[in-house]
Amino acid sequence: MDAVRYHEHGDESVMQLETVEKPTPGPTDALVEIRAVGVNPVDAKIREGALPAKRELPQTVGTDLAGRVTAVGDKVETLEPGDRVYGTGFGWHDPGTYAEYAAVPADRLAPLPESVSFRDGAAVALVGATAWQALVRRGSLTVGDTCLIHGGTGGVGHVAVQIAVGAGCQVVATARAGRPLEIVENFGAVGVNYRSSTLPKDLETALDGRSADLVLETHASENLTADLHVTGRDSTILLIGTQGPLEMSGGDALGAMLDRVDVRFSSIMTSPEIHREALGRLGQLLADGTVTPLVAESYGLVDAAAALEHAQTSGVLGKVVIELDS
Ligand SMILES: NC(=O)c1ccc[n+]([C@@H]2O[C@H](COP(=O)([O-])OP(=O)(O)OC[C@H]3O[C@@H](n4cnc5c(N)ncnc54)[C@H](OP(=O)(O)O)[C@@H]3O)[C@@H](O)[C@H]2O)c1
Repeated sequence: MDAVRYHEHGDESVMQLETVEKPTPGPTDALVEIRAVGVNPVDAKIREGALPAKRELPQTVGTDLAGRVTAVGDKVETLEPGDRVYGTGFGWHDPGTYAEYAAVPADRLAPLPESVSFRDGAAVALVGATAWQALVRRGSLTVGDTCLIHGGTGGVGHVAVQIAVGAGCQVVATARAGRPLEIVENFGAVGVNYRSSTLPKDLETALDGRSADLVLETHASENLTADLHVTGRDSTILLIGTQGPLEMSGGDALGAMLDRVDVRFSSIMTSPEIHREALGRLGQLLADGTVTPLVAESYGLVDAAAALEHAQTSGVLGKVVIELDS
C-alpha cells in the first residue's frame, strides 16, 4: 500500500510516498481503509520532532482519518468490517494516517453516519474534538450563553462557532475582514475583524453590552487583554493556543480576580473515551446539518507535502484535506 513516511525528523522535504506492507491489526486494533485525511499543522510539528518522540522512525505522517473498517483484532467487539468510522489523535503514539490503510486502536474510532462524507468527517476530526473538548467539556457550554470565539474561519474556530450557534448561544466570532467575516456571519455569529486596532472596543460593541460567558481563545498572546476587557463575573476563558508569552497588566489581573474570571487550558490530548464521545456527538451534528465543514482544498496522497504546507499558511478558510481513491 502507499504511505507518506519520514525516516528522519525535518521539514516537508523528509516526507516520501513509499510502498509498504499493509498493516495487520493487533488484538485491540481496527484496520481502516482510509478514504480521507484531515491535514493539521500539528502533523508538521510531529514530523519535525517538535513534540517528544513517542515512536521509532520511520513513521507515517498524519493525525486524522475517515474510512471504512476492513478487519478487526480478536478482542474488538464494538466494530466490524464495513463500518464507516473516523478518528483523531493518531501519528504520535500510534501509526500515522497519510496512507491507504492504518491499523489503529479501535477504541479511538467513532461511527461516521452514512449521510456524512469521508471528506467532511476527516475535515473536522481533530478540530471538532478540540472545539468540543473546550466548549462542552471544559466550558460547560449552556443554551443562552454568550460566547466569543476567536479564529472563526480557522479549523477549530469554524466548528466551534457552529457548535455554539447550534446550542442556542449568542456568538461573536473574530475573523479576517472580507469573505471570512461574511462566513462567520452566515454561520449565525456577529463577526469582528481580529486585526482591528480597536479590537477591545469592537468586541464590546459586538457583544452589545453583555459580558462573554465563554471565550474560546486560539491566539492568547495577541488577544488576552481584549478578552479580559469583555469578560465579567464568572466568565471562563478557554485557552487552546498561543503564539508567544502571555501578558496581562496588573489592573487587568486584579479586575479578573475580582470578577473570578476562570482561565482554563484545554487540549485535545484527552482519553479515547472523550474522543469517541466528542466525535460521536459531532457525527450527529454533521448528519443533521448543524455543523457544515468548510473545506478549503482537497489534495491527493501524492501531493501530501503541498497539502501540509498549505494547511500551515494564513488565510485558509476551514480545512485542507487529503482524499484517497476508493
Ligand atoms: N489545545 C489543543 O488541543 C489544540 C488543538 C488544535 C489546535 N490548537 C491551537 O488552536 C489554534 C487554532 O488552530 P486551528 O487548527 O484552528 O488553526 P488554523 O486553521 O490555522 O486557524 C487559525 C485561525 O485564526 C485566525 N487568526 C490568526 N491570528 C488571529 C488572532 N490574533 N486572533 C484571532 N484569530 C486569528 C486565522 O486567520 P488568518 O487566516 O487571517 O490567519 C485563522 O482563521 C492554534 O493556536 C492551534 O495551535 C490547539
